[in-house]
Amino acid sequence: MGSTSHDRAFRIDPEGVDPAAVPSRTLASGARIPSIGLGTFGSDKYDAGQVAAAVLDAAGVGYRHFDCASVYGNEAEVGRSLRAILGGGVKREDLWITSKLWNDKHAEADVIPSCEASLRDLGLDYLDLYLVHWPFPNYHPPGCDVSSRSADAKPYIHENYMKTWRQMEALVDRGLVRHIGTSNMTIPKLRLVLRDARIRPACNEMELHPHFQQPELFDFVAANGILPIGYSPIGSPSRPERDRTAEDTVDTEDPVIVRIAERLGVHPAVVCIKWAVQRGQVPIPFSVKRPQYLAALQAVAGGPLSDRDMADIAAIDRGCRLIKGQVFLWKEGQSWEDLWDPNGEITPP
Ligand SMILES: NC(=O)c1ccc[n+]([C@@H]2O[C@H](COP(=O)([O-])OP(=O)(O)OC[C@H]3O[C@@H](n4cnc5c(N)ncnc54)[C@H](OP(=O)(O)O)[C@@H]3O)[C@@H](O)[C@H]2O)c1
Repeated sequence: MGSTSHDRAFRIDPEGVDPAAVPSRTLASGARIPSIGLGTFGSDKYDAGQVAAAVLDAAGVGYRHFDCASVYGNEAEVGRSLRAILGGGVKREDLWITSKLWNDKHAEADVIPSCEASLRDLGLDYLDLYLVHWPFPNYHPPGCDVSSRSADAKPYIHENYMKTWRQMEALVDRGLVRHIGTSNMTIPKLRLVLRDARIRPACNEMELHPHFQQPELFDFVAANGILPIGYSPIGSPSRPERDRTAEDTVDTEDPVIVRIAERLGVHPAVVCIKWAVQRGQVPIPFSVKRPQYLAALQAVAGGPLSDRDMADIAAIDRGCRLIKGQVFLWKEGQSWEDLWDPNGEITPP
């Protein structure tokens, strides 16, 4: 068991990275977001106390961006760390905190209270970014098996999504969140949201790693002024068993990644992070281990990969989606691909 966050105080680590040396990206609003964040989903492997302790320590080594979500079940513990960080002299405007609306809270009446609950847990007056976590309004219990199906499961229904989105917009109007965004979207769904939104998504959080580069969606969001935030940037090596299939490939064992890592004398995970930032997405790697999250931050603050390295990594995309979303399927006989609109249009109900 790791130490818990609340038995420790915030301390700037002299061996860390100066936050000013970490590049940032500019959103369509003009706001700046650190080009790397720390993920906080413990993947059923790390408990809330361990994740919260990592958040506190990671701020000490120079992280200023944290990717949270109510469904990760640890916002209250992470909030204790954020209070310690803010109490320790870090200014609120220097932090970037994201949280997400869970799938069972899409109803119009639930959106604002859900965000308020995250704010309360995190101990904040506002979020920098609030995302609709998935475009499917389906409840399934945390930790359930991929074969689990909800009797109330529903497909993407744009009209309903926009009702949720109107409440997301209201959160901006009320000053509770600075930006709103989407996650786990596809081009056909985003086209409709962009057509109908009063406040456009600032960011789209999506799975992105060398074996799953999603070039079309990446280009689409960039062309529409939406910043891609890349989850599972290392290929999620610690993801729960339920999220693994025999076809999955391992980014950190790819010969191209390994060769570059050996040449640079770093772990292959570090190459994945460098590639992500240089390509233009904001990676949010998860780790509770100091050498790992420090190495990722140093990678971002350090020198770039060569053009040749970037081209070599661009060529190893295998289209290997790891977080398939099986539990969101809404009728018998479907395959998980149906969730991702494989025919270029929204999969019919
Ligand atoms: N929007 C969404 O739907 C969504 C979905 C999934 C994830 N996310 C977000 O994305 C974050 C990251 O995703 P993820 O945890 O799936 O995948 P990930 O960041 O690709 O993988 C995390 C794992 O990689 C290993 N690792 C991390 N840094 C390393 C380093 N420097 N050297 C060697 N190994 C390293 C660790 O394994 P060990 O623990 O075994 O050491 C760690 O648990 C989540 O925490 C969450 O915030 C969002």
